[in-house]
Amino acid sequence: MPIGIDALEIAIPDLYLDMTDLAVARGVDPAKFHIGLGQDQMAVSPASTDVVTLAARAAAAVVERADEADIAALGLVVLGSESAVDASKAMAVMVHGLLGLPEGVRAYDIREACYAGTAGLLTAVDYVAAHPGRTALVIASDLARYGLGTAGEPTQGAGAVAMLVRQDPRLLIIDPASTARTEDVYDFWRPEGESVPRVDGHLSNRCYTAMFARVFAAHREASGLDVEDYAALCFHLPYTKMGRKALAGVLTPEEAEARGLDHLHRRYDESLIYSRRVGNCYTASLFLGLLSLLDHSDLRPGDRLGLFSYGSGAVGELVTATVVEGFDSRRDPAATMTALDARRRLSVKEYEAVLTESLEPVGADISSTLLPDGGPYALIGMVDGVRRYRMP
Ligand code: CAA
Repeated sequence: MPIGIDALEIAIPDLYLDMTDLAVARGVDPAKFHIGLGQDQMAVSPASTDVVTLAARAAAAVVERADEADIAALGLVVLGSESAVDASKAMAVMVHGLLGLPEGVRAYDIREACYAGTAGLLTAVDYVAAHPGRTALVIASDLARYGLGTAGEPTQGAGAVAMLVRQDPRLLIIDPASTARTEDVYDFWRPEGESVPRVDGHLSNRCYTAMFARVFAAHREASGLDVEDYAALCFHLPYTKMGRKALAGVLTPEEAEARGLDHLHRRYDESLIYSRRVGNCYTASLFLGLLSLLDHSDLRPGDRLGLFSYGSGAVGELVTATVVEGFDSRRDPAATMTALDARRRLSVKEYEAVLTESLEPVGADISSTLLPDGGPYALIGMVDGVRRYRMP
């Protein structure tokens, strides 16, 4: 019974910072950000667009695209995130409430840095296999923040994706035979109560590439699949140069050319179109790359994709997926490009004000938010730690 993704939608804040502006303000050569990291723009989230807001927007887009019967059959709502807003209550429950989803579901969050969205997807695939006829909603939502003037600053961003998982999916079939590896390492972590993660950036780069090489080799051994068996490889994208380095570790551009596999590097570039303009969005980032690939590449039904998920700390997993006939009718690339183009470009001063405001705990009323964005669902206040949202 094929199980996989039937709908995959994205939500991004409607404010952004241009990376040239940030480079100039920080006295850095802009080429370091555009070429060295591979980032052109960075999504910026004001206080009213929190991680639940983004999750609700992405999930609402999935509900709109999904068949009504599939929403009625929901049995699981699972949300992966690094940037939880409550240490106890699940954000999946908040999104469930905001969208008025059916009562008869399990709703909970999953945590393991940027890997948690993939954990949610694989949990959903297992759930649907064990409960024929039921469906699952998977959400990955994050604000990637390191703080002003830090080394991680140019690798920030924000965004969410949501997916409907069911039998006979109309977008991608997910192969349950994936390969995972776990290793206890402190490359990126966030002690309880701290608003931004601590990161050992260069160690994290090495952990990521080493993890991909290990997972790819282990998956090749287990499945017999090698580079030539994939139509494309998609990566978790903390910044777009990262996946390129990992890919080059198993297939350099020169080897690709010699072996007639240049499509892997071309399609890697096609998977970066959204991420170059959004930046990191932790758990959602791999799926942003996948969406960019589905929307901008010449994939055909039956093509096999490799999806590499990396969550610092660290868990890595390679998941394979197969493109389904008619997949392109389940997406609307023009709408995503229009949303990206319609965003408001912030000055560095505005960005700094928004980021500082967002990092402070909001009071009883945040109607004073400097730059609220205009999208549906917004955090309007917090009283006794209870978050209040505006509904569309
Ligand atoms: N023109 C072109 N390229 C330039 C350049 C210029 N003028 N100046 C520098 N560069 C290149 C460098 O050569 C380097 O490229 P290579 O890595 O290919 O050599 C690149 O720009 C970055 O330069 P540095 O390494 O000197 O940059 P940095 O020390 O300021 O930090 C970083 C980079 C470590 C990624 C930092 O931004 C950071 O800590 N980011 C957060 C952590 C992160 O994203 N880690 C990724 C792996 S962990 C993960 O994936 C999980 C997650 O989401 C966090």
